[in-house]
Amino acid sequence: MNEARIEVHRDPTEVTETLREDVREGLSARAKWLPSKWFYDARGSELFEHITRLPEYYPTRAERDILRAHAAEIAAVTGARTVVELGSGSSEKTRLLLDAFAAHGGLREFVPLDVSEAALSASAEATVADYVGLRVHGVVADFTEPLEFLPGTPPRMVVFLGSTIGNFPPDERAKFLASVRSVLADGEWFLLGTDLVKDAGTLVRAYDDAVGVTAAFNRNVLRVINDRLGADFDPEEFEHVARWDDRNEWIEMRLRACRDLTVSVPGADLTVTFVEGEELRTEISAKFRPEGVRAELAEAGFTLRHWWTDPAGLFGVSLAQVADGVIR
Ligand code: SAH
Ligand code: AVI
Repeated sequence: MNEARIEVHRDPTEVTETLREDVREGLSARAKWLPSKWFYDARGSELFEHITRLPEYYPTRAERDILRAHAAEIAAVTGARTVVELGSGSSEKTRLLLDAFAAHGGLREFVPLDVSEAALSASAEATVADYVGLRVHGVVADFTEPLEFLPGTPPRMVVFLGSTIGNFPPDERAKFLASVRSVLADGEWFLLGTDLVKDAGTLVRAYDDAVGVTAAFNRNVLRVINDRLGADFDPEEFEHVARWDDRNEWIEMRLRACRDLTVSVPGADLTVTFVEGEELRTEISAKFRPEGVRAELAEAGFTLRHWWTDPAGLFGVSLAQVADGVIR
């Protein structure tokens, strides 16, 4: 039987060191914050999958509808030999693309990349079993690090779904797009999913579901710090908060201390105090407008070839090409 190749670009000691630095910086700040990538240990990845099935969390369904409608066109237009998926998670929606490439012919390799080793190996093993003849080369890595090691025969299509791009602050978003652009050659492709600006009620419900799965996902970052740095956070002492920031056009997830708390984080040589009601920002999830997506792609050196939305206009998918002025 075919086997997935898994390459690990994350040394556990370095991961703990990076978390230690992030915790020291974010939890010592006047306005406390943490980078959202720390949600995703095995439990965090499972909770995210659960979120994607919640009635309130429309982005996954909307993006899946778009991919279902346009996968055949994407396969035909790009003629990609390699699909590289950044932040691949379960790669569940990506299967629509792999199916279309299987029908079209020509795709040789699938390269899912994720920080979550558990999610990555499960999805790599499942895809290699289901797509006969497709090479699957999983990479456990942080996509904010330089990406020049990315494997695969050209032409490649880099896929970044789920609106994960919205989890970057704007300056890091620009850096990330430039980094993706820098590893692609003229004529290669970038497929990007972006959640769109809409009414605040729909947005807040998507991040504050009735059964509390998003709250558990949010609190999971505290468990990750407990596990890796020996901290003594009691996640239940923090209330889940989801708020729409109209000025920045992003959702913020926060954890609000239910009472005055002192938390010890021995692995970071840190004691952190919270006053009752103090909030820790754990994620931003920016929402986009079509003209903004086009401008950010252009700024990074991509030309937008196609822009698709679902019938309700909730979500957008862009197919962009490295801009050399030639449509191949
Ligand atoms: N693409 C999937 C999963 C989105 S969830 C979908 O559309 O449903 C975000 C994914 O990105 C998670 O699997 C998480 O582990 C991964 N991720 C988050 N930050 C990352 C980083 N810095 N580097 C690599 N993967 C990251
Ligand atoms: C992965 N990312 C795009 C999700 C989002 O919607 O920002 C993570 C998430 N946070 C809360 N629910 C889902």
